[in-house]
Amino acid sequence: MTVDMRRVEEILERYPHRRDQLIQILQDINSSFNYLPPEALRRVSEALEAPLSRVYGVARFYAAFSLEPRGRNILQVCEGTACHVRGALQVGDELKRLLDLPEAGGTTADMEFTLLGVNCVGACALGPVIIANGEYHGHVRANDVGKLVRSLRKRD
Ligand code: FES
Repeated sequence: MTVDMRRVEEILERYPHRRDQLIQILQDINSSFNYLPPEALRRVSEALEAPLSRVYGVARFYAAFSLEPRGRNILQVCEGTACHVRGALQVGDELKRLLDLPEAGGTTADMEFTLLGVNCVGACALGPVIIANGEYHGHVRANDVGKLVRSLRKRD
């Protein structure tokens, strides 16, 4: 996959006081590419005159950052106890079936979806919960997820 380095340069230009703004720069790169490409991290290290190990240290520390390519849509299925007892497993299984993903989840071949299991997201009363691109969906049943997947596929 080719990384458009112009997008990285545009992000760096937004931050005149770059040295103090490593996290914000990484956030912007992560949202632009859906992950942190290694070429981008090398360029950030060079532009900030910061050791590459420090840049990777920050990138690995925050769960919001990914070092692996992710799909255009991120689906997080809560695997906490309250969601589990209300059917989260069936919801996750149906998503894997629809997206043709293995048991562990992952990213579809067309890079449209990444399916992740997450710990309790703090909305237990709404369980089972899916977070789709940051938006919470509560009381989700296995037969609801096809509609959600179709609507996300259509989104620009
Ligand atoms: S267990 Fe799913 S939100 Fe708490």
